[in-house]
Amino acid sequence: MRRGVIFGHRDYGPVAEALRNDEDAAVLSGFMPTGDPHIGHKLVFDEIIWHQEQGADAFALIADLEAHSARGMSWDDIDTHARDYLLSLLALGFDPESGELYRQSENRRLQDLAFELGEKANFSELSNIYGFDSETNVSYMQSVITQMADILYPQIEDPKPTIIPVGPDQDPHVRLARDLAARMRFFKVTSAYASFEVTDAERRLLSDAYDEREVYAETPTRPRCEEASEWIAASEIDAPTQVVTGLQEKLTNAGMEPLRPRVRFLNANATDEAFDALIEAIEGEKRRYDEHIDAFQLGLDSAAKLAREIEVEHGGYGFVAPSSTYHRFMTGLTGGKMSSSVPASHISLLDDPETGYEKVKAATTGGRDTAEKQRELGGEADECPVYELYAYLLAEGDDEFATTVYDECVSGERLCGGCKEQAATMMAEFLETHQEKRQEVQSKLDELDISLTSSRRDTPSGDE
Ligand code: TRP
Ligand code: SF4
Repeated sequence: MRRGVIFGHRDYGPVAEALRNDEDAAVLSGFMPTGDPHIGHKLVFDEIIWHQEQGADAFALIADLEAHSARGMSWDDIDTHARDYLLSLLALGFDPESGELYRQSENRRLQDLAFELGEKANFSELSNIYGFDSETNVSYMQSVITQMADILYPQIEDPKPTIIPVGPDQDPHVRLARDLAARMRFFKVTSAYASFEVTDAERRLLSDAYDEREVYAETPTRPRCEEASEWIAASEIDAPTQVVTGLQEKLTNAGMEPLRPRVRFLNANATDEAFDALIEAIEGEKRRYDEHIDAFQLGLDSAAKLAREIEVEHGGYGFVAPSSTYHRFMTGLTGGKMSSSVPASHISLLDDPETGYEKVKAATTGGRDTAEKQRELGGEADECPVYELYAYLLAEGDDEFATTVYDECVSGERLCGGCKEQAATMMAEFLETHQEKRQEVQSKLDELDISLTSSRRDTPSGDE
């Protein structure tokens, strides 16, 4: 994050807060075993391991169902790559005793969860997100809903903030998982002002109208719906007409009913017992309706907490919406994208140290045509795949070193030949150490409860 490699997030706040306060949190990411693990994957391994070291429950999974159904990978190849991913993850410091590693294809609880989640998503929604059409094979669809289950899997026992470190291409998956998490909830908790239901946009306007009650209410402690409606009619409101007229109509219909702030628990999927138990548990003034309960002396946060507790006590998951971080993709060593299928574009974690060395030496740079020009203008570190190697990997935790390389480059002090030599040497050292560690963790991997050879048959499979 300090170096801008992780450049964005969706709702990371709850995860950061939980880690800071020593509360439950989790980290999970998944890997499609379509090729060798490379230095781009290492970034995600590091993110998982870092969160594990901060106290999060850590999960890493092999997305073998996805690789098979969406990429047409054979089970044999999947087995080989799966082993390599897991070895590198362990070698980099993943602790399998406190964390969990699994393969999608072998995790029964995961698949059961996927099935439940599948009931909350329909085909047209998935087509909009993933571009499914009438030619899409059904197993691919299953793998997508399996990924949704992956993302919520850390919460299968207890709800907790969960961070999913991924590339920005995975954002649609994260958003769908957040939606599905919400659709599984027993209760939806919102703020409300009157007995009738409003949309989110209408609620914002209603909240403004409530705040302006001094202006229009005959008795400001009891503003009437009707009065609020008249105020809206007379004011210039910055909202779509549909929202304005929709709310006005509801307010007019409610007539003399006073506006009064409250929190509302909507019954979304609750069992009758859970609904009754919630009513019991609400403290202070409350009112029960067919499909919702209004509580007048509860704050929104404590209401949300209570709703989750009741849900969990009554057999629900109480999912917290999962969070994500997004990291930049490394530029390929040959320029363009770093790709698993183009060996020269990446450094595989399995490359022998000499190969790694050579690849760095052969990489394109952000350097100028001649040494003179470089001294005069400085190099373009921001455009340089070699600089990325320093920033993403070689400098490890040493920000000062990364900054020095950058400054020396852009000021023209650093020339590409020497810079690449240094990076290549460091890369060779990294690969050597990493591969030694891979050797050391072999036995650890074999002891784990994860099958490394799939019993599945390779039949010709659909390739999306
Ligand atoms: N779909 C991801 C990919 O294309 C792999 C994946 C499967 C995943 N399940 C996941 C990633 C859960 C993050 C979280 O690489
Ligand atoms: Fe890249 Fe190093 Fe050359 Fe700068 S000096 S452009 S960082 S190779």
